[in-house]
Amino acid sequence: MEVLRTEALTINFGGLKAVNEVDFVIGDEVVGLIGPNGSGKTTFLNLVSGIYRATSGHVHFMQEDITDCAPHEVRSKGIARTFQTNRLCLNLSVLDNMLLGLHSRQKSTWWQAIFQPSRCQQELEDNIERCFEVLAHFNPELIDKRYEPVSKIPLIDRRRIEIARAIVGEPKLLLLDEPTAGLNTEETMEMIDDIGRLRESKMKVSIIIIEHDMAVISRISQRVVVLNAGRKIAEGTFEEVSQNEEVRTAYLGG
Ligand SMILES: Nc1ncnc2c1ncn2[C@@H]1O[C@H](COP(=O)(O)OP(=O)(O)OP(=O)(O)O)[C@@H](O)[C@H]1O
Ligand SMILES: [Mg+2]
Repeated sequence: MEVLRTEALTINFGGLKAVNEVDFVIGDEVVGLIGPNGSGKTTFLNLVSGIYRATSGHVHFMQEDITDCAPHEVRSKGIARTFQTNRLCLNLSVLDNMLLGLHSRQKSTWWQAIFQPSRCQQELEDNIERCFEVLAHFNPELIDKRYEPVSKIPLIDRRRIEIARAIVGEPKLLLLDEPTAGLNTEETMEMIDDIGRLRESKMKVSIIIIEHDMAVISRISQRVVVLNAGRKIAEGTFEEVSQNEEVRTAYLGG
């Protein structure tokens, strides 16, 4: 089943083609997106998630053209993401941060909050239950820490909360931009196993993961796509792309 497809996706920043004619497909799988610094990986995710508008080319999600959709529309269609730098609200509690991830699915309206408060209350309770389920997947201790401000939570758990918040609304596609940045080797592997286990849960989520650590990429991705200077230069299994001459040159600078 095809989940996302980009066709000749391109964006120009002045004279720079940060993403250049990229054809990319993902089905029910984990795809690693790799490439040297500045090769266009984050920009590619920004195009898919509607943050940047493509200069040319198309993005199709579940057979629908979403090239010109705004970020909130992309999100409500079922694409969630995390960012290269932490975007949690540090002064808010763990639970409040999690509930933000369900905002786009909220059904109760402002007038129901006034005239049918019990209905709103029920929706909130269901949402909290759902947040607990997802937090438990990553680290059950986070449920006990639900009222603590995120600023008091260690980095690895903050990264977990970010992913938990992204998936709590049950997206079909999850975009992860360097989810293990700043973690040590042991924490990185824990995190990758948490992410891998998401695919074993009842939620069928496809994942695009940007990652610099090749051990991580080889452990988690079924397929790898390599960007260099905005262009896709290779794709295949980790073994295939790591044998590829152009990929080796891009990484080692010849
Ligand atoms: N808003 C922007 N305006 C101008 N140039 C930009 C913009 N966003 C990205 N770029 C440029 O596009 C190129 C690709 O950047 P991008 O952040 O996508 O790289 P990356 O592969 O994610 O790198 P890294 O591994 O360092 O995160 C870089 O040359 C960057 O300077
Ligand atoms: Mg980046």
